[in-house]
Amino acid sequence: MSKITFPKDFIWGSATAAYQIEGAYNEDGKGESIWDRFSHTPGNIADGHTGDVACDHYHRYEEDIKIMKEIGIKSYRFSISWPRIFPEGTGKLNQKGLDFYKRLTNLLLENGIMPAITLYHWDLPQKLQDKGGWKNRDTTDYFTEYSEVIFKNLGDIVPIWFTHNEPGVVSLLGHFLGIHAPGIKDLRTSLEVSHNLLLSHGKAVKLFREMNIDAQIGIALNLSYHYPASEKAEDIEAAELSFSLAGRWYLDPVLKGRYPENALKLYKKKGIELSFPEDDLKLISQPIDFIAFNNYSSEFIKYDPSSESGFSPANSILEKFEKTDMGWIIYPEGLYDLLMLLDKDYGKPNIVISENGAAFKDEIGSNGKIEDTKRIQYLKDYLTQAHRAIQDGVNLKAYYLWSLLDNFEWAYGYNKRFGIVHVNFDTLERKIKDSGYWYKEVIKNNGF
Ligand code: FCB
Repeated sequence: MSKITFPKDFIWGSATAAYQIEGAYNEDGKGESIWDRFSHTPGNIADGHTGDVACDHYHRYEEDIKIMKEIGIKSYRFSISWPRIFPEGTGKLNQKGLDFYKRLTNLLLENGIMPAITLYHWDLPQKLQDKGGWKNRDTTDYFTEYSEVIFKNLGDIVPIWFTHNEPGVVSLLGHFLGIHAPGIKDLRTSLEVSHNLLLSHGKAVKLFREMNIDAQIGIALNLSYHYPASEKAEDIEAAELSFSLAGRWYLDPVLKGRYPENALKLYKKKGIELSFPEDDLKLISQPIDFIAFNNYSSEFIKYDPSSESGFSPANSILEKFEKTDMGWIIYPEGLYDLLMLLDKDYGKPNIVISENGAAFKDEIGSNGKIEDTKRIQYLKDYLTQAHRAIQDGVNLKAYYLWSLLDNFEWAYGYNKRFGIVHVNFDTLERKIKDSGYWYKEVIKNNGF
């Protein structure tokens, strides 16, 4: 196989999120988050797991930075827990919470690792949920208030910023399917929530510019390529509609200042029309420095008049693919096609892959090693496609591997392992997997 080399300044990173790794859920003045409430409610999370302790990163961040340094990670994407900063969501600031992120950021910098901050990775202060959460438009102002404190304290030392992580998942899983916090099941609410999340993104970007922060800001969407099950016009239309609902619903407002027509039409048929001030879309579509997305898998969609939206997953196709432990199909070409689509439909933006990786059932072998060959193969294949897109002119700037550590995988608890570092959840001992050593070589050689 010929050698694959990435551009000279390509950023090799790794990602985590506060609730999934920090633990210390009630320490140093932290307020309750919707994920604390949700995971403490019986029946919501597999095996009754919670993020109370998680990887205990709050106390072990020094060790975790040592591990990053050992692997050679160039940039670390982490999120800030809003209720650590504002236990009530707004009003009184908790200095101890802020100090933690200052210590973390400074230690990263001392170790030559570029910090990349996600402002919102799903752990809304419960007190704000009590006032209506993301359905309440006021939450967008509380988000700005919180963002301002973070920008003020870390804006001059953190070069990369993400306003939100996967607003599409917050909307769909949190407010329509009810399998993520806050566990709401209502279509209209989920759409209002998606709009307010986008609006809060716009308000935070505006503030970021007004504060003259010399750094880059974008948003991390959940995107996968939606393939039609066949060349039939009805399947093609179905796949387009499904991508509009899941992807363009977020891409278009942010990058084009409007919602996609086919999605609006479908919601109208269901009796839902969003109403909001005209200026919202202007705020939402302010220029950003890059568009980021998390990508794991691909969708195959068929026309299906018996389903409510007129389409459904093409199971006869999906069942032919190899899958990760999440049941997600492995289809690396989907990453290439997605990168090309963004490049073509959205005016050659700078792109960041803010998450990519795979869950497998990893075990420590009798030789003491974690030989996660499937993960290595997955990463190799996806990175090969990312590289191919760069060769074809796509402005891909950075890649964040999900995840640095095995961690709390939301509704699945600790049952899904995404890490390139193994975590024993009884002893909290960390151990670099073979994929971690492989990634180390990739970073060192800027390719493989
Ligand atoms: C994404 C989330 C991230 C992680 C991965 C597996 O949807 O952003 O927190 O759970 O999936």
